[in-house]
This record gives sequence, structure tokens and C-alpha cells, in this order.
Amino acid sequence: MKSLVLLLLISSIAYGYDNTICKNGFNLVNNKCWKLFQDPANHTTAENTCTQYGGSLFMAKNAIDNRAILSFVGGYQIDSLWMGIFCIGSDKSQCYWDDQTGTTVIYDNFATGFPNSGIGRCVYYSLSGSPRGQWLNEDCTEKMPYICELPTTHTDVCDLNFNDNCYFRLDAQPFNVAQKQCEQMCGDMVSIHSAEENRFIASIYQDLPYDYIRIGGVATFSDFIVWTDGTTMDYNNLERIGVNGICLYMALKNTYNSTRGAWYAFDCSTPYNYVCKRPVGEPNCRSTPAPPPPPQPIATATCTSGVHVAPGVISSPGYPHYYTSGCQYTLTTFGPNKIRLFFNYCNISPNDYIYMYDGESAYAPLIPGKGTWTFTSTGNTMFINFKYGSNKPAPGFNATFYSVF
Ligand SMILES: *[C@@H]1O[C@H](CO)[C@@H](O)[C@H](O)[C@H]1NC(C)=O
Ligand SMILES: *[C@@H]1O[C@H](CO)[C@@H](O)[C@H](O)[C@H]1NC(C)=O
Ligand SMILES: *[C@@H]1O[C@H](CO)[C@@H](O)[C@H](O)[C@H]1NC(C)=O
Repeated sequence: MKSLVLLLLISSIAYGYDNTICKNGFNLVNNKCWKLFQDPANHTTAENTCTQYGGSLFMAKNAIDNRAILSFVGGYQIDSLWMGIFCIGSDKSQCYWDDQTGTTVIYDNFATGFPNSGIGRCVYYSLSGSPRGQWLNEDCTEKMPYICELPTTHTDVCDLNFNDNCYFRLDAQPFNVAQKQCEQMCGDMVSIHSAEENRFIASIYQDLPYDYIRIGGVATFSDFIVWTDGTTMDYNNLERIGVNGICLYMALKNTYNSTRGAWYAFDCSTPYNYVCKRPVGEPNCRSTPAPPPPPQPIATATCTSGVHVAPGVISSPGYPHYYTSGCQYTLTTFGPNKIRLFFNYCNISPNDYIYMYDGESAYAPLIPGKGTWTFTSTGNTMFINFKYGSNKPAPGFNATFYSVF
């Protein structure tokens, strides 16, 4: 009896973990979602079709997936299939995966003499000849069948279910209101972590007339985005940062000054349509991580107590006037990130010192090397002690710090 209960328990757990699904009529193969499109199309049309689902052309990044294609299309009279690879040259390192994760150096199954971008920059999977399953280049305007690929997901009642997240389209609100609304749905404004997710977001608006939507990030620099859900910036599609604000928008149309799918920073107050995102499964508001503190605008802290959150600027007391005292600064950023500090200007008296510590206090390791103009911490905090021992006022220093990965 006991073992029966245990068995039931194990099988229900196994079932719980095994509710992997594919949406949109895609087939689950090897933990990937594939769908065959038999009508021959040129490479651009094939890519566009996949993009409409938020996916890309299939990418076989290992031998198992590469073989799986053979059995997946085994019953059809098909000789070739477009793949999600594009070559800018005739070396494996010059053939890029559609999902922007790198080149075919990680795995390839090119036929002898390939890649050869002289024949064509697009790549197809050959089902004829011997051995089958090899890759060859072809002119991108040729027409052939293709397979689109989507990431798998798990069951949830939501309609827009992609890669283990549910997405919700909501009506125009300012940034702060939008984030609050998302939190009420046990989510956050959408953060975007891959080219695929970016395409998916654009795809869910393809039949709607909007030019832009709000996404859940703010950008004070072109290479620094803070997501309101607290996730790490690991993908960036920012085209320009605005002069009128720091809140992110995604363009949904190609116009003379915007690119579909690209991100722009504008003001935070104009109401815009927006997207919320939460993980699939039972909504559990308590498990939603608290949003991070709002990013600090770049402001010069001459000598204020408390912690300075990256990005920011620190400078000697009274800067740009001569300093007449010392100061201590604690710099910090999100947990997985590091602090990069660099001095824009430094002119202090010989008996004054800037001690920099690789941690939260003066007990942390002292950063060696005087006159080091730039330093990156090993953790997410840095402590700086500016000691005024000379009693001689001097111009001082000014340093900028960033959050880096
Ligand atoms: C691809 O096919 C579409 C539809 O047939 C056509 O409009 C487009 O011009 C073609 N593009 C190329 C590069 O061949
Ligand atoms: C493009 O120009 C239009 C009209 O001037 C403006 O409303 C829009 O914000 C601009 N978009 C970008 C990304 O600068
Ligand atoms: C600190 O240095 C930066 C970069 O040189 C500069 O833009 C900024 O104005 C300086 N801050 C002050 C208060 O002078």
C-alpha cells in the first residue's frame, strides 16, 4: 500500500514535470517545437512565416536534433529544407544561427566543401543524396520547404504562452501604472531576453495598428537597461536612447525613423499599450520577486551618506570646488552584476588618499594600484574612503560608475 501511494506520488510528479507542450499546432520533437511548411518559399518568405509565430527557421545544434529532422519529415517527398543559418563567409565561424546565439562553430554538419557562401549565403538541410542530413549553401532566392522552430512551453490557461511565460496585452497606461497593473496579475511589465522573445512580442501585435508598445525597462545608457522584473540585461535591442525620457518602447512598424522590433527610450508618462509577463503555472503573487529600486538618474554625489546605486557619478566634497574634507562612498548594483568605476578627473593633494575596497566596507580587500583609473569589482559592491589628511584644499576628483555583467 505504501509503495502504491509512493508510486502514485512519483507518477503524478513525473506528470507534473512532463506537461511540456508546443503551441500553434507545432509538434513536440526532442524537446523542441517544429512545424513543417511544405509549400516551397524563398528564404525571406520562410523566415517571415516563422517570425509570425515568434519563431525562427529550425536550428539543429547537435547531432540528435540533426537526425531528428530525418524522421520528422521522413514521410514526405522532400529533398531540402531551409535552415536557420546565414553565412557571411565560407568558414563555420562566419555562419550565424538565426537566434543570434553564435555561429556554427559549436556544431555543424556541413557537407564536404561547405560552407561556401559563394554559392549562396543561405543554408539548407539536404534529404537527398548520401549521407542524408548534411547542410549546403544555396542562393536565398531559391524556393524550398522549411521547418519553423519555437521553444517549448508548459500548460497554462493563458492564450499567449511562449517559452514558459504568459504574456498579456493591455491598454495604454503610463509606465508606473502599467507596472502596478502587471503586479496585480502576478507579473511584471515584460522584460525581453532573447531575439526570439523579442520577435514573439512583435508577433502578438502583428494584426494591431499600434506604432509602439511599452516594454518594462528603462535605459539611461545605450548599453545599460534595467528591467522592472529584476531580471538581468542579457539581450539588447536598443536602437537609440531618447532625449525625452528613459522608458523603453518597442517599435511595431518600420518607418523612416524606427525599425520593427527595435527599442527606443521616450518619456515615461505618455499612456501607451503595454505587455505584462508572468511565469506559466499557477499564478502566485507571493513568488513574484520585488521589483528592484528605480534606477537613479545620473547625479553627482559629492558627499552624501548612504548607498549609491549604479550607474552614477561620485566626486570629492564640494566638487567642482576645492574640497576641504574627506568622504566615504558605498557603490552597489544588482546581485549578479559588478561595478565598474573609472575616474574622469583626479587632482588631490599628495597626502590625501582614495582607498578603494572590493566589497562593502574597509574590511574588504583593498584594491591595489594607485593611479588605477578604472577598476571592476569582483562582487556587486565597492567601498571608497577618501581620506583628507593633508589639510590642504585641492581640486578633487570625479568618477563615474556603471553596472556591468
Ligand atoms: C520571395 O518571395 C516573395 C513571395 O513570392 C517575393 O515577393 C519576394 O520578392 C521574394 N524575395 C526574394 C529575395 O526572392
Ligand atoms: C519618429 O517620428 C515621429 C514623428 O515625428 C515621432 O512621433 C516618433 O516618436 C519618432 N520615433 C522615434 C523612434 O524617434
Ligand atoms: C564629472 O565628469 C564627467 C565626465 O567628464 C562630466 O560630464 C561631469 O560634468 C563631471 N561632474 C562634475 C560635477 O563636474
